[in-house]
Amino acid sequence: MAVSEHTASEQVVAARERYVARGVATTPLVVARAEGARLWDADGREYIDFAGGLGCQNTGHGFAAAAIHEQADRYLQQCFMVGIYEPYIEVCRLLDETWPGDTETKSLLLNSGAEAVENAVKIARVATGRTAVIAFDHAFHGRTNLTMALTSKVVPYKRGFGPLAPEVYRSPAPYPYRGVSSDDAIRGLELLLKQDVAPESVACVVLEPVQGEGGFIVMPEDFPRRVKELCEAHGILYVDDEVQSGVGRAGPVWAIEHYGVEPDLLVSGKSLGGGLPLAGVTGRAELMDAVPPGGLGGTFGGNPVACAAAIAVLEEVRRPAFRARAEEIGATIRSRVDGFGVSGEVRGLGPMLALELGEPTPELASSVTAAARERGLILLSCGIYGNVIRVLVPLSIADDELGRGLDLLEEALGDAGAA
Ligand SMILES: Cc1ncc(COP(=O)(O)O)c(C=O)c1O
Repeated sequence: MAVSEHTASEQVVAARERYVARGVATTPLVVARAEGARLWDADGREYIDFAGGLGCQNTGHGFAAAAIHEQADRYLQQCFMVGIYEPYIEVCRLLDETWPGDTETKSLLLNSGAEAVENAVKIARVATGRTAVIAFDHAFHGRTNLTMALTSKVVPYKRGFGPLAPEVYRSPAPYPYRGVSSDDAIRGLELLLKQDVAPESVACVVLEPVQGEGGFIVMPEDFPRRVKELCEAHGILYVDDEVQSGVGRAGPVWAIEHYGVEPDLLVSGKSLGGGLPLAGVTGRAELMDAVPPGGLGGTFGGNPVACAAAIAVLEEVRRPAFRARAEEIGATIRSRVDGFGVSGEVRGLGPMLALELGEPTPELASSVTAAARERGLILLSCGIYGNVIRVLVPLSIADDELGRGLDLLEEALGDAGAA
């Protein structure tokens, strides 16, 4: 039998092309194993991971493995609606304990960030008796019908997928690097409420404290508070989408803690399940209880194994030492990237950091991520223009791995002609 001329990775990529829909965009990386902040491909090549399964590994690859194994041996899927089980309740209790405010909360567990955002809107609609929803420029809230309407990027997320869900309104969001200030955005929101939708029709606004897919755009220090004040003046609920910025990614458990604003509803996901699909909606108890029994739920939401992982994750990220280390990692990344001399902006909140390249086109950022992969670093781009290099490194990374990853990033920027 002839020995294949193709590497193990190339063979998997060929099978992927044959059997998997092309609409799922992929890179040539074929993962065989991962641990902490490192992973290995199907050919045994080692990489430093600055992507963390797209922000799902804040505590590091394998962190929750023991909790997962233990729960897997005890029982698997039950469906919380058929038989209640303690890990689900314990996750909700920890979400209450880590709530960024004083209010008594309740939670609902789901499978994905998009599903959780949809449920937050459902809850807000029932609780207020209103239908309209306000989302912001550069927002990403998911790919389901309602959440793609909330998402603010036509290609690839919306084009051809309509009709989109109705009663979604878009307000400007601050983007200081591209000339939009907090004042501009607040003025835009006030105008929206005069020109397009009556405030008394609006159930909620949905806002990411750091816009993730939109380009790691950090909301200015005053913006969430001013939005919240406007909401309070009109009986509109404030939904804080922490799917990407939460679970320790920006330092504290929730990025909104940087702003001192207490949301009405908070949406979590990604790293919550330590690598298993889990998302949540947490909110003021009376809002969460506005929906009658049967109105919320789903077959797999809050699967016991995902909940066991989430208990371990939440216990970890709430530790002051985790936050201190996360902020130390953030400071190290920022000082190194600041020194690369790249034309553009380095920005972020704690360790949720990114580098926006000056030119608002995707080509250079794509060359950087490709060059990084060649050198052994997994890196992601994002942004409305596709020109932002973001860091979603596991926050368990050791100093020497972080240093090596940043060396590779600097080299990749050089390879691509960005520095
Ligand atoms: C802020 C935010 N909300 C919602 C989502 C959707 O989450 P999921 O992909 O789990 O549906 C994402 C995913 O990137 C996100 O970043």
